[in-house]
Amino acid sequence: MASGPDESLLAFTESFSFDVRLWRDDIAGSRAHVEGLGASGILRGSDVAAILSALDRVADEFATGSFVPAPTDEDVHTAIERRVTEIAGEPGARMHTGRSRNDQCVTALRLWVRRELREVALSVIGLCHALGRLADEAGTGEDGAIVPGYTHVQRAQPVLLAHHFLAHGWALSRDAERMAEVLVRTDVSPLGAGALAGSTLPLDPVATAARLGFGATFDNSLDAVSDRDFVAESLFCLALAGTHLSRIGEEFVLWTSSEFGFAVLDDRYATGSSMLPQKKNADIAELARGKVGRLVGNLVAVLTVLKGLPLAYNRDLQEDKEPLFDSVDTVKLAVRAVDGMVSTASFSREAMSRAAVGGSIAAVDVAEWLVARGTPFRDAHAVVGRLVRESAGDGARLAVLVDAELGAEAAALLDGRQGLLRRSSHGASGPSAVQAQRVRYAERLGALRQRLGDR
Ligand code: ARG
Repeated sequence: MASGPDESLLAFTESFSFDVRLWRDDIAGSRAHVEGLGASGILRGSDVAAILSALDRVADEFATGSFVPAPTDEDVHTAIERRVTEIAGEPGARMHTGRSRNDQCVTALRLWVRRELREVALSVIGLCHALGRLADEAGTGEDGAIVPGYTHVQRAQPVLLAHHFLAHGWALSRDAERMAEVLVRTDVSPLGAGALAGSTLPLDPVATAARLGFGATFDNSLDAVSDRDFVAESLFCLALAGTHLSRIGEEFVLWTSSEFGFAVLDDRYATGSSMLPQKKNADIAELARGKVGRLVGNLVAVLTVLKGLPLAYNRDLQEDKEPLFDSVDTVKLAVRAVDGMVSTASFSREAMSRAAVGGSIAAVDVAEWLVARGTPFRDAHAVVGRLVRESAGDGARLAVLVDAELGAEAAALLDGRQGLLRRSSHGASGPSAVQAQRVRYAERLGALRQRLGDR
């Protein structure tokens, strides 16, 4: 092609404004590539040295904020090559040998994801630890704090508050695990695939991959330059982690309302109203809920770009980056905010326990008491259901009815605490089961940390 696109089009086609975030990764990729060209004898040692030292200088310019982009720099990759050539002269014109921006840009993006998604995963594990601490503070013994467990937002059965916190923790631990799995598939070098077909030059993509610390090398050059599975998968992990944060957020909105009164936010994690002086708003919890809109949107955006795209590279693929960057940024901030919010909140054991015991909340415990004495469950369910209906929602009256029909031992269960203490089957909500769960939870977090290479 004799000339580049018309200057007025650059605003439409350029990606430097956002892919400048990849400078570190592009330079790492270029170093490995140029070293490979030297090792294969394609470039002279003196050329390799000149390019590497120019790359060092460019890295320095980016790190100190003194890099000056040219108006014609379409993306960070062209910008760096231009600058290297300005610095190194003729050797700079040799650095792109055997390479295309198609394998170059996706190499940089994989390196970026490899670093950033790991960081997100570790911060998610940090939040898991915070939830573990909350569980410990709530207590897993017989005197542990209790809270109503809900189904359909109706009080269903009392559970240990620790059990409730850990439930969120397990979900988030799966997010970290999922990210670790995506990191394995991300850890594949596409460098050496060229524009789409590899090269006639004696490149050694396997050695280049090793130089970059990649765990594997591409197997098919067409696939290497067009595969953005790792972007879509990352976005899914981030959207699901954000979804889990939104569920915590929603509960904190409910729990801090005067209707529930279960929790009070620390002032640093709440905001006042611009008009109503008495208000203390759970804005962080609401944003944890609301940010999921963009996280899901980013996933859908990338899947939509990929859908129906013919092999191999198409410029559409440049649209992979902004959604990814946005989701990573968003989840990083959201995890930190939710971590701070839950870690500094205070919880009202009184309000929770008032809501969690008495009334008919332990009806199933009475039914199970009958089952333990030989009554078929369906019949026991019918008996207790009838008594609950007769009591018309009045806990004291229910106690009288149960006492009259089934005896004092059954009536004593209605408070709910006894049933909770005895709910000890694997994974259940009572003290001994939650203590065992807490041990497994700690082991899992340790294993995840180790898997992510964090000690
Ligand atoms: N900036 C582009 C991207 O991020 C890389 C350049 C693609 N190559 C090309 N032939 N236009 O996808």
